[in-house]
Amino acid sequence: MTSPFVAVAGATGGLGQLIAMALIKRGVAVKALVRPNTDPSRTEKLRRAGATIAPVDLSAVPALTNELTGAMCVVSSLQGLRDVIHTAQGNLLKAAVAAKVPKFIPSDFSLDFTKTKPGSNRNLDLRREFHAELKKSGIAWTSILNGGFLELLVGDSPMVNHKSRKVAYIGQESQLLDFTSMGDTAAYTAAVAADPKPTPNFLRIASATVSARDIANAESNVEGAQYKPGWMGPVWFIEIVIRVMRLFGGEKEVFPIWQGMQYMTNMASGAGKLKPLDNDRYPELVWTTMEEFLREHKNHLSKK
Ligand SMILES: NC(=O)c1ccc[n+]([C@@H]2O[C@H](COP(=O)([O-])OP(=O)(O)OC[C@H]3O[C@@H](n4cnc5c(N)ncnc54)[C@H](OP(=O)(O)O)[C@@H]3O)[C@@H](O)[C@H]2O)c1
Repeated sequence: MTSPFVAVAGATGGLGQLIAMALIKRGVAVKALVRPNTDPSRTEKLRRAGATIAPVDLSAVPALTNELTGAMCVVSSLQGLRDVIHTAQGNLLKAAVAAKVPKFIPSDFSLDFTKTKPGSNRNLDLRREFHAELKKSGIAWTSILNGGFLELLVGDSPMVNHKSRKVAYIGQESQLLDFTSMGDTAAYTAAVAADPKPTPNFLRIASATVSARDIANAESNVEGAQYKPGWMGPVWFIEIVIRVMRLFGGEKEVFPIWQGMQYMTNMASGAGKLKPLDNDRYPELVWTTMEEFLREHKNHLSKK
């Protein structure tokens, strides 16, 4: 493959595929790292768009090093628990260092876990621990923090109940929450990966910074019926509920219900708030407003 290119691990996933497509849109060559024996139908779209598909086992560091040689950046959008975020992503990091790749973007894509309490969010603890490895590795790295995906407000949403027309919130109704669409997150990640200049260790972005009341108002405008915020309880109470729910299992699942509640309490307490935002770093990027996003989703559903 001609250098330079960006290697994307997790390119068959929801965010990874969007990042790969956003890179291609910028004219950047992409190598999609996928598991050996990945069904060709899952990589067809990327292949047709011009990505090079590289089946490689993330436990085979020498083969991985070979694949990464000549890359200008490695983007990880892997998703999983310790075996993925530490072990597989750790091997990716080792191979990136061995191949002398100048930049690594870890699979963080979350609220600001540099400011939340360790132990308050199992999945984000894994990322915080991985950062210790990143710091030791000597590679230049940039973590992109985007709050929650706007996609959490649609479909089978944990926050918006279309039957009761309630927007669930914890703690204060006025607490501002950060959301970014997956498309905006991918476009920004592609801009960082393709940036020839050094990029900071943390970049914070949000398509929308809104309260539960703002979400209810936007839903009311889009749906043409009144939505209201619905209180779930104070943060401390939900933290106790999470601890009790955890006793009943879910440790082997990436997203048990209590994990989703951990993200919600981190946002609702204000601890994981993104501040200041780095949205303006790449002026060519256009941000999706929450109402635009909800409207587009509704139009998309009505065309089905
Ligand atoms: N802020 C938010 O609201 C929010 C919400 C969701 C996700 N995220 C974050 O976004 C990132 C990407 O998530 P996603 O939703 O795009 O995940 P996803 O759709 O589940 O995709 C995960 C990707 O990782 C790959 N993968 C996992 N384990 C692997 C292994 N051992 N070897 C090789 N490939 C492996 C999967 O490959 P296969 O397809 O072959 O399994 C897939 O390509 C994660 O950091 C996640 O936490 C953030």
